[in-house]
Amino acid sequence: MSITNDPAFLASTRIDTQLAPTTAAFPPDFLWGAATSAYQIEGAVHEDGRIPSMWDRFAAIPGTTYQGQTGEIAADHYHRMEEDVALMAELNLSTYRFSLSWPRILPQGTGAVNERGLDFYDRLVDALLARGIHPLATLYHWDLPIALQERGGWLNRDTAYSFADYASVVARRLGDRINWWLTHNEPWCSAYLGYALGIHAPGLSDKQLAVSAGHHILLAHGLSVPRLREHISPQAQVGIALDFYPVYAADDRPETLLAVQQADIFRNRWFLEPLFRGHYPEELFANLGVVPPPIHDGDFSIISTPIDFLGVNYYSRMLVRSHTDTTPPTIKVAHGLPADGYEAVERIPGASYTEMGWEIFPDGLANILTRIHREYAPKALIVTESGAAFDDQWDGNGTIHDQQRIDYLRRHIQMVAEVIRQGVPIKGYVVWSFLDNFEWSEGYRKRFGLVYVDYPTQRRIIKDSGRWYASLVASHRAARS
Ligand code: FCB
Repeated sequence: MSITNDPAFLASTRIDTQLAPTTAAFPPDFLWGAATSAYQIEGAVHEDGRIPSMWDRFAAIPGTTYQGQTGEIAADHYHRMEEDVALMAELNLSTYRFSLSWPRILPQGTGAVNERGLDFYDRLVDALLARGIHPLATLYHWDLPIALQERGGWLNRDTAYSFADYASVVARRLGDRINWWLTHNEPWCSAYLGYALGIHAPGLSDKQLAVSAGHHILLAHGLSVPRLREHISPQAQVGIALDFYPVYAADDRPETLLAVQQADIFRNRWFLEPLFRGHYPEELFANLGVVPPPIHDGDFSIISTPIDFLGVNYYSRMLVRSHTDTTPPTIKVAHGLPADGYEAVERIPGASYTEMGWEIFPDGLANILTRIHREYAPKALIVTESGAAFDDQWDGNGTIHDQQRIDYLRRHIQMVAEVIRQGVPIKGYVVWSFLDNFEWSEGYRKRFGLVYVDYPTQRRIIKDSGRWYASLVASHRAARS
């Protein structure tokens, strides 16, 4: 075979020519990352003093997850951490975003610290640093200790104070080595999927409860920021990761334009406004048909404690229209739109979708990043999640050809480059996910990884997208050195 028709050669030239204009936009210290979360990958749920979280409890209820799957073994990362960090190095990651398991560290949620739980993260952080990978730690990615859930979970204001104590415990042990911190991951999902739609733990279905849970999560965030800063190094950066769905109008009727505003308040501004402006959007509660949550004097000044960066999780957009009596609403659960007068368009003609049924819409990432910068001006932004599930097929050998994921990532990274050129301070891009994992109620059937996991053997295989990402980072580094 001549070099010109060697697929490996062709693939690599395509990578080079398509990346060259892209990587030039990124600053030298740009963080190229991949992410996971504790319950989705660790397994070892009964080991070294860990007590169940509300997700262990929820996933054990028949009907809550695909085929009753749980995180009991997951990707067995707890036992394969060194091997996984070596894979991260092969992917050329400059940052790894992971979450700490609260129930490993404080099995009862408060009180006695389980040093063995902390030891695991201590070893992980050292392994990352030894490979030159910056740890980016999330304190809460949905696995609330069961003891706290039994006392009401996020409906109980005390949980916010327990969270701040947990943050302090973690920072005391790891704060000397972790420079990037996220308090919470996607409070909208914690509150709405968990307390209003009942499709995530703890599985409750009451919008009134969702706004209370959301308020206490925000309070937990605000209380924890100074507790972290007491122990971390002065240059360390603290933020929170929110999930965004930029909202577009499906037609130009005035009712639809109103629906766009309502959906935007619900899906994007609910958490942005209190964090950056110290109040909830005015119409939020009336639109949801609920009363405001119990807000104490001083809550908003705690919640709007300045942060160093905002984490932006982006997967797709929402195309909404007002619905009439003749077109009954088709409510898309993932968007969780309240069924009051508008709907999200389910299948957009000509659009492409991932295995999650999420429309592939890279423009939405540029839209949301520029808009957040313009309207809320966080000091810095990191794309803390971006990625896609596709139906990856493994032939039993050493490769998985996931060209769709390469295309997805390339198009989204190009958007980030564009936005950086416009002057938006984006410090990193983090792929969801580093490796295939337990996708919550979807179980293991949705694969987002740059690395494939063969669950029966726990063998890891770097997908083509992982190799592509590694070359992208390498070419960026080479251009800068
Ligand atoms: C996000 C979650 C993450 C993963 C991706 C697909 O909402 O933060 O854990 O499930 O979606």
